[in-house]
Amino acid sequence: MSAVSAFIVLEGGEGSGKTSLLGGLSNALRQLHFNVLATREPGGTSEGLALRKLLLSADGLDWEHGAELLLMVAARVQHVKRIIEPALANGTVVVCDRFVGSTLAYQGAGRGLPVALIEELHDKLVGGLRPDLTVLLDVEPHLGLARSVRRLETAQHDEGRFETLKTAFHERVRADFLRQADKNANRTVIVDANRDYPFVQAEVVARVTEWLASRGR
Ligand code: TMP
Repeated sequence: MSAVSAFIVLEGGEGSGKTSLLGGLSNALRQLHFNVLATREPGGTSEGLALRKLLLSADGLDWEHGAELLLMVAARVQHVKRIIEPALANGTVVVCDRFVGSTLAYQGAGRGLPVALIEELHDKLVGGLRPDLTVLLDVEPHLGLARSVRRLETAQHDEGRFETLKTAFHERVRADFLRQADKNANRTVIVDANRDYPFVQAEVVARVTEWLASRGR
């Protein structure tokens, strides 16, 4: 079982519980004896973490939308080439908190940048890697934003630049995640993340485990 490779991506809006789930799902898979790498975007490498700080501070820099897109892609190129591809080549289940689906939803639908440009950057610079399975944690923006703001305040994280954007932005992001899920229905599971976290984690662990088992058949 330890030689199984798979690229599983967690996507969703603010406060959908992805970060807790990254730990919860990874631990559950390790208990089943999979080799697991838990990672996230923007981040995942030293360069990606440096970019994360520049991109997410609510009290920091004010990026043009095109610059924001290029920095998200820059972090992803480092992450895929240095961390994700080597892990997949080495029999690892990579669980990643956000990937190109977030760029399509936030910089595409949210900011209004062309989807064709995002796809081209992804194909030409990132090498076109796509998730084997996407878990979409679908949450109502008003509920998710309230959760996220609470979490950032409690942890005193200055990472709230996207939380300061209007609810209409987050509604577009949510609609686009649902559009992507519909387009890639055979490799996406949608989970209702409006519920309390333990219910969400239990459903995600069950569905991912079932998906991994079905791949081995
Ligand atoms: P998170 O770690 O709480 O999910 O925060 C990451 C933020 O960055 C979140 O608001 C979504 C945003 N983001 C983009 O806008 N585009 C991207 O490509 C990625 C990976 C994240």
